[in-house]
Amino acid sequence: MMMNLQKDCDHILVSEEEIAQIVSDLGKRITADYKDSKRPLLLVCILKGSVVFMADLMRAIDLPMQIDFMKVSSYGNGTVSGGHLNIILDLKREDLSKTDVLVVEDIVDSGRTLSYLKPYLLSKGAADVKCVTLLDKPSRRTADFTPDYTGKVIPDEFVVGYGLDYAEQYRNLPFVGVLKREIYST
Ligand code: IMP
Ligand code: MG
Repeated sequence: MMMNLQKDCDHILVSEEEIAQIVSDLGKRITADYKDSKRPLLLVCILKGSVVFMADLMRAIDLPMQIDFMKVSSYGNGTVSGGHLNIILDLKREDLSKTDVLVVEDIVDSGRTLSYLKPYLLSKGAADVKCVTLLDKPSRRTADFTPDYTGKVIPDEFVVGYGLDYAEQYRNLPFVGVLKREIYST
């Protein structure tokens, strides 16, 4: 299964089984935390890396919800994100004022993306903005940002799979793996 892509991974960091457990646990916590809110819930998936996590997480949350998508670029290629942030795809919504927004991220690294997006969504009038991330690399943080829900804290290694890419590849791996250094250091 997936041997052509798996051979570029040094090792599996989060297996399919562990991901399923993490998603189920996050879904239960989020369901419990939001079930008494009087406001509608909007899950915002940050493209493209979060699309696989989003698809699983939304089905693990037992509440009425709407979903939407945003895309943010951070100019910078390969394994280093850097520079200025740009909103490539924005929400096409007139009024977020009665809405609980839950931003769904694949991984928090420097923290720049979410430390930018959260105030942005609040400035658009969202009643509440929280963030759920599958993975967190806190040792890489340069911006002051703490996710509200974290699936798993991981060491400072470049990972691919379950939505996460290197040069737009590997997103379809069903697990999260550490990419072999020789793949991106040549
Ligand atoms: P931040 O703004 O530095 O927190 O960037 C987060 C974004 O960088 C994520 O949404 C990913 O797209 C990307 N990223 C950070 N670390 C990795 C990684 O290990 N593998 C793949 N993408 C990553
Ligand atoms: Mg991303």
